[in-house]
Amino acid sequence: MRILGIDTSCDDTSAAVVEDGRRMLSNIVSSQTAIHKKYGGIVPELASRRHVEMIWPVVDEALKEAGIRLDNLEGIAVCNGPGLIGSLLVGSSFAKALCYSKGIPLAAVNHLEGHVFSVFLEETSPGFPFLALIVSGGHTSLYRIEEFGRYRELGRTRDDAAGEAYDKVSKLLGLGYPGGPVIDSLAQKGNPQAIEFPRAYLPESLDFSFSGLKTAVLNYVKKFMTDREGRPTNESGELQDISASFQRAVVDVLVRKTEWAIRREGIRRVSLSGGVAANSELRKRMRIMGEKREVEIFIPSLALCTDNAAMIAAAGYHHIMSLDTAGLDLNPKAYLPL
Ligand code: KG4
Ligand code: ZN
Repeated sequence: MRILGIDTSCDDTSAAVVEDGRRMLSNIVSSQTAIHKKYGGIVPELASRRHVEMIWPVVDEALKEAGIRLDNLEGIAVCNGPGLIGSLLVGSSFAKALCYSKGIPLAAVNHLEGHVFSVFLEETSPGFPFLALIVSGGHTSLYRIEEFGRYRELGRTRDDAAGEAYDKVSKLLGLGYPGGPVIDSLAQKGNPQAIEFPRAYLPESLDFSFSGLKTAVLNYVKKFMTDREGRPTNESGELQDISASFQRAVVDVLVRKTEWAIRREGIRRVSLSGGVAANSELRKRMRIMGEKREVEIFIPSLALCTDNAAMIAAAGYHHIMSLDTAGLDLNPKAYLPL
């Protein structure tokens, strides 16, 4: 069964064709980073407008690359939240119109469910049940995935998401948007032990909190490294050391909490997904932890960590197979718990 996936939840327009929920025939992502960069973050109105311009060309390219025509599609899966409502509306309206005109089923996929199912697009994927850590710009959550459609949230962030912390720290260091990749690369040249930033372990809980860490970085920058105009200076590699120390604090918490969840739930399979799963240190430390604790770790390739439509099609396949389809009255939602 070949399904077209569509994701327009945030600032990337993406379309993909996936066969049987596992075999990726194409996965096209049109990034809007260049549009939003100069504002230091995503401007929702500009994002929706760009989605309107890009949706057809991106779908067209996804079909071409997969070597199939619209008439050969057996279903469409669209992300219906959570996300920016104006952006979500573009994808869902488009998907509904196409399903109606072709007479094929429509599946509504939660963006987080998509991130969880991105691991099934890789050669080796977890058996059920498994633990899923989703770390993105909007979410940091741990789930117990019992089987398709049965998910239990074990913990979530009480304030900032991990990716949001990266983006905010990057902004205050004057490093631009998005912050994850730039801090990741600076961190590789810095000393992670240079500054002792706080780690919020929240005893007894699998919840997360990153806003204290962000404030600690802000206080450090204000105290030690601003010039007379209040801009960050980088006289002797402080930016590298701050990046490395900040990143170490984020990764320490994410890995430690995952270990707690493994022990508490007695599950020895863990998947890691979402934009922050592209982080080099997090990937490495999770794998080391897995080896030490004899736990299988599943991390998708970089392109499947950040937002993409293949993951939506992978999850959508299961919706369609279990006849859990959406009607033409489908309305996306900005807030949509998994
Ligand atoms: O999953 P995603 O593409 O979009 C959301 O659903 O939010 O995640 C985007 C987030 C951004 O906050 C970005 O800074 C972060 O993922 N990110 C990274 C890296 N690459 C992207 N964070 C840390 N290290 C990276 N290499
Ligand atoms: Zn995402």
